[in-house]
Amino acid sequence: MANFEKLVLALKAAGEHTRLRLLALLSEGELSVKDLTDILGQSQPRVSRHLKLLAEAGLVVRSAEGAWAYYRIADPGEKRDLVGALLVPVEKSGGILTDDKKKLTAIRREHQNQADEYFSKVAKNWDNLRNLHVPEEAVEAAILRVLGKKKVKRLLDLGSGTGRMLELLHQNYEYGTGIDLSREMIGVARAKLSASGINNAQVRLGDILSFDAGGQKEDLIILHQVLHYFDDPGQVLLKTAEILQRDGRILLVDFAPHELEYLRQNDAHRRLGLSKGQMEIWAKAAGMKIDVFERFENQKQQQGLVVCLWMLSLK
Ligand SMILES: C[S@@+](CC[C@H](N)C(=O)[O-])C[C@H]1O[C@@H](n2cnc3c(N)ncnc32)[C@H](O)[C@@H]1O
Repeated sequence: MANFEKLVLALKAAGEHTRLRLLALLSEGELSVKDLTDILGQSQPRVSRHLKLLAEAGLVVRSAEGAWAYYRIADPGEKRDLVGALLVPVEKSGGILTDDKKKLTAIRREHQNQADEYFSKVAKNWDNLRNLHVPEEAVEAAILRVLGKKKVKRLLDLGSGTGRMLELLHQNYEYGTGIDLSREMIGVARAKLSASGINNAQVRLGDILSFDAGGQKEDLIILHQVLHYFDDPGQVLLKTAEILQRDGRILLVDFAPHELEYLRQNDAHRRLGLSKGQMEIWAKAAGMKIDVFERFENQKQQQGLVVCLWMLSLK
């Protein structure tokens, strides 16, 4: 650590009951103040005060998002290493930290259930709904252009929904797989793929963060309008990078940062869009680089959302 005083400040910040619990929780991934408050069972101003102290000491990073704020452990560097070292003995101490992690698992399950419930309701109408917020034609044309004509052997579509990407790209892969959490979405996708005569793709029920790839590596992985359903999109990218061929590519399409707070309540969104800067940090942490970035304004609606496309590859 370059400066002795800074080290003392960082150790002082971490050396407190609630703040150590916060660091242990954030080591599991990026979390909102709301979820941290629910897990710790303390008032929101109190939790925010502790988080502010940790941020001032450089141990955590805050990103504001509409009415919410998210925190994560410092980006790779000395402060992150320090937190890692501090947490080694802490991880083994059990007790309240084990309880905190159980509560975190329960909260994550609850978020997934909310997404699942939402998609089970909208599955049949999803292809129309998607078009409401998104400049779909321009985005799909860009996806085809960016991927080019060369066929890949294996494509994995994570959060495949009604199978639109497997359908759009059916000439770009030899063998396609879609994974989705929602039984209803899977049902619609199966019917649609079969009606379109696409027989080189299959869809499976599964959770992106825990499905077993069985050692299989993919040439192209797609996450189309999926990352904003996760508190920590960086975790998804880490998982994705692990199952990518050395020369494989990841195509991400998602909203740019926006302020439509109601999408959290009504449509189960966790993140209000993803910024280019955030994506750079997540990609770097997963050992990847961004090769292509494009933005698409929605001309149809005044309050339309901007959609971004990123193409990533391993460094
Ligand atoms: C907005 S839809 C996008 C579907 C499709 N990619 C498209 O663009 O039409 C998001 C999809 O992600 C799925 N999803 C959300 N969380 C998931 C998770 N943890 N694992 C697998 N699928 C998930 C939902 O069930 C839903 O079908």
